[in-house]
Amino acid sequence: MQRRIYADNAATSFPKPPEVLAAMIDYAERLGASAGRGAYREAVQTGELVSTCRARIAKLIHAEEPRRIVFTLNCTESLNLAIRGLLARGDHVVSTRFEHNSILRPLHVLAGAGVETTYVAVEPQTGRVLASEIRRAIRPSTRLIAIQHGSNVTGVLQPLEEIATIARECKIALLVDAAQTLGHVPIDVQKMGIDLLAFPGHKGLLGPLGTGGLYVRSGLESQIQPLVAGGTGSISDLPTQPDFMPDKYESGSHNAIGIAGLSAGVAWLLEHGIEALRAHELVLMRRFLEGIKRIDGLTLFGPTTAEGRVSVFSIRVEGFEPAELAGVLDSEFGILTRSGIYCAPWAHETLGTQAGGGATRLSFGAFNTEADIDATIEALAAVSAPSSVHTSR
Ligand SMILES: Cc1ncc(COP(=O)(O)O)c(C=O)c1O
Repeated sequence: MQRRIYADNAATSFPKPPEVLAAMIDYAERLGASAGRGAYREAVQTGELVSTCRARIAKLIHAEEPRRIVFTLNCTESLNLAIRGLLARGDHVVSTRFEHNSILRPLHVLAGAGVETTYVAVEPQTGRVLASEIRRAIRPSTRLIAIQHGSNVTGVLQPLEEIATIARECKIALLVDAAQTLGHVPIDVQKMGIDLLAFPGHKGLLGPLGTGGLYVRSGLESQIQPLVAGGTGSISDLPTQPDFMPDKYESGSHNAIGIAGLSAGVAWLLEHGIEALRAHELVLMRRFLEGIKRIDGLTLFGPTTAEGRVSVFSIRVEGFEPAELAGVLDSEFGILTRSGIYCAPWAHETLGTQAGGGATRLSFGAFNTEADIDATIEALAAVSAPSSVHTSR
């Protein structure tokens, strides 16, 4: 059977460490209860499992304490909670023209409710934003800066620390979309001055789909309304929503089986160390960037060096539509990629790729090897050779 090379880690990571599935099976076979919803041993242990996961994530991102972490279903829900929970009529937001729709769309919903946004332009080749542009966009009514840490289109890392300094000086909350960076690059929310960190559990944290979270800096919860209210298993004698973390934002039964897997994924990261994983990905990125340089007719959109980026690469190959290239890589070479606009319409508009149907994206992760990179480069070289264009079409 043809070997399959998974190069779509920006969508969700695959494979997961074996410990992730083992933890989910263990939960399903041994516990099966809802956290905080009973006094029997299995329910208590499920509650402990959820607390352990919270503590592990807090350790990974250097949060003040575990209760600063709120569990959600994905990064989109986390971003919605931060954006829609914080902002009200008359508030102004600074964001960029390179964001994912999970920031752009909540901001567009709020535009109809009197919240104004300035979308700062970015460097057209990479998507990198200048911190000085963020500063220029700030008004007296600016309440939030909402920006991604790493791009899901070009892989560019934004100058977060400079942006955080501006946010702190101007007393504006900083919301960071870490969908493409948590688990890939070290993040210390306290040192980096991040007030709100939205992240998926199913990408770099190696958990299953249906997991995510939001870090909320101490005290900020008094300014953020929950999007969902309901049973939390705490202060059940009151009909009013708890005002304390994390219960204020965690109504309804948890995705306990997902959190069991996520906890094992985060434990795996803590054991292996983010620095070591970043070093591995830097090796893969350098190899890929070096290899594709030699391929005629291939265009890379984004930074051409490994430093200052994550391993998310958007490319086009002359003679191929983005979806057609993804199809050929899949059917002829067993390489799994994503094509199109991947939920970032303005990023593609900035790069000039929107009209042509976007690009083809290859994204590598913790379990990709140098052999995967070499096979991918070989496949790209083969499809871009002039004779193959005709045979593959
Ligand atoms: C930059 C960015 N933000 C947000 C998201 C949304 O993440 P989720 O699928 O967990 O909702 C993604 C997913 O691809 C992303 O790449």
